[in-house]
Amino acid sequence: MATILIDLSPNDMQRRLHDALTVYVDAMRYPRGTESQRATMWLEHTRRRGWKAVAAVETDSTAGEEPTSAQLDAAPLLGIAYGYCGAPDQWWQRQVVAGLHRAGVAPDEINQLMSNYFELTELHIHPRAQGRGLGEALARCLLAGRGEAKVLLSTPEIIGEANRAWRLYRRLGFTDVIRGYHFAGDPRAFAILGRALPL
Ligand SMILES: CC(C)(COP(=O)(O)OP(=O)(O)OC[C@H]1O[C@@H](n2cnc3c(N)ncnc32)[C@H](O)[C@@H]1OP(=O)(O)O)[C@@H](O)C(=O)NCCC(=O)NCCS
Repeated sequence: MATILIDLSPNDMQRRLHDALTVYVDAMRYPRGTESQRATMWLEHTRRRGWKAVAAVETDSTAGEEPTSAQLDAAPLLGIAYGYCGAPDQWWQRQVVAGLHRAGVAPDEINQLMSNYFELTELHIHPRAQGRGLGEALARCLLAGRGEAKVLLSTPEIIGEANRAWRLYRRLGFTDVIRGYHFAGDPRAFAILGRALPL
């Protein structure tokens, strides 16, 4: 068995959508059924400018040996990450801009911050594969060679920043953009984090 990272095309994402959403739901410990609510949105995201997705898969090839395309097609998904260029017509950007205004950030600074960024939209490793460095490897793979000036993301707040997501983002040098933010329609508090690119 070997774990390898692969790029996903929009077609690959469509083909593997069920598995990718299962990794997401299991990693986030969301209730079953969340997959179907997210499917249309994840597919819509594949059409956004600058969309890129990477996955960690477990092939039955021997470590160090190039897997065949049949082995790759059959390889179960252990992790998924994707993102795209931020744009003013996107719900997430509008929410973050509203949050920055509310936090009293100057309009020029908001324009500066919210132009030319890559949104790291999703990053999830299946629980059985967490804690082996795969999340960091996927994040690095996704962000490698991006042309944007920075990367932004949101992650649920957790007391003491005490989970793997927070440890990973801090280790990668992400700093606070907004803390304790409530997206419309979600009772949970989120942090918006960012850092300059390249990583
Ligand atoms: C957050 C998440 C993506 C991080 O991915 P991960 O693969 O679990 O973790 P990392 O890549 O950061 O690796 C860190 C761990 O791997 C270990 N590690 C790093 N490199 C390693 C290697 N080469 N071999 C073995 N272990 C390694 C580290 O010691 C660390 O372990 P620890 O946390 O027990 O100290 C993943 O845990 C996850 O999906 N969590 C749930 C969903 C989630 O929170 N997603 C983000 C929402 S915004």
